[in-house]
Amino acid sequence: MYERYKNALKEFPKPLAYVDLDLFDQNVKDIAKRVDGSNKTIRVASKSVRVPDLLKRVFSASDIYRGILSFSAKEAVFLAKQGFKDIVLGYPVVDPKLIREVLETDPTITFMVDCFEHILAIHQIASELGVQGNICLDIDMSTKFPGIYFGVYRSPLRTPQQVHELSNSISELESVNLKGVMGYEAQIAGVPDFSPARNFLLNAVVRLLKRRSIPKIAERRKMIVEMLENQGHLLSFVNGGGTGSVETTIKEDVVTEVTVGSGFFSPRLFDYYSQFRHEPAAGFALEVVRIPEQNVYTCFGGGYIASGSIGVDKQPEPYLPKGCTLFPNEGAGEVQTPVHYKGTLSLDDPVFFRHAKAGELCEHFNEVYLIKGSAVTGTAKTYRGHGLY
Ligand SMILES: Cc1ncc(COP(=O)(O)O)c(C=O)c1O
Repeated sequence: MYERYKNALKEFPKPLAYVDLDLFDQNVKDIAKRVDGSNKTIRVASKSVRVPDLLKRVFSASDIYRGILSFSAKEAVFLAKQGFKDIVLGYPVVDPKLIREVLETDPTITFMVDCFEHILAIHQIASELGVQGNICLDIDMSTKFPGIYFGVYRSPLRTPQQVHELSNSISELESVNLKGVMGYEAQIAGVPDFSPARNFLLNAVVRLLKRRSIPKIAERRKMIVEMLENQGHLLSFVNGGGTGSVETTIKEDVVTEVTVGSGFFSPRLFDYYSQFRHEPAAGFALEVVRIPEQNVYTCFGGGYIASGSIGVDKQPEPYLPKGCTLFPNEGAGEVQTPVHYKGTLSLDDPVFFRHAKAGELCEHFNEVYLIKGSAVTGTAKTYRGHGLY
């Protein structure tokens, strides 16, 4: 693998990011298989890919991939202009200029909302433009245990009563249409089952909390969806989950689609789930520029740290050649990243790394090199390369 990537990328200046298309395609197939037989479709979390050509590749692989969960208004506008359909903005937009831009570009884009102010802003601009704004209610899926808040802080909508009050108010606003419901169970989808960053006991506690949360999540989602249907709302979709929760989310009858993004690149944090393992399809190459002592190779660049709570699990991991490790005192540096390696490398040799997360890698590069077999077949622009920040 090391020699294959090294030869394929020999000509190209480093640092660079690459995607192994054979592994990417394998992941696209394997993710579709995880959902097979469930009558659910997969909405693609575009932020976890951030390369329009690769998003297109996912949709052309199977009909099971339907629709985009986008992350910003600018991105949604950009994707709509590129011809992507069925875009749901995964997070609220509060800037009236951006709401207007979205509605003017493609009024079928669905806005994520969780309070009356979100909805009113969309209603007002949609009515000025003479269109109907589609909205999706974001339901909080966090679970509370004595002394533990297991989940993320996003939406204030937790109970059927809260949703009932808000959905009542929607019925009075003519320029908005309640299209769907989303509940992202981050504590299941985004929390690995076993992580080397946690000790044995903590890993066991996390798995227990995940197991205990799953039925609570299913119950809350069911109650809310049934309540909305009884109220007369015809929902086009009920969305849930992420790469890490496909198996449990698809078990819920009320769910019509599951979101997946990170699984296509399968970054390092997704190595630690018990139900699936995808292929490491994306990575980056640095070049050895100095050899300070035997078995120590210092590369140029590399400090692409993932977002979220701070921890060693957020740093990139040397991937190839096998056996390279970072120095805990230095980690991956802004301009210099030393690795320890028992074998022999020369100046100019590449070291390949995996990012901890998926799409974030693309924020550091304008393009990704596409490898097929043992050759580079081209490049594809990232969002950054398209000037989209
Ligand atoms: C709202 C929402 N849904 C789904 C996902 C899952 O995406 P992924 O498959 O990339 O983990 C995320 C990820 O952050 C999210 O924020």
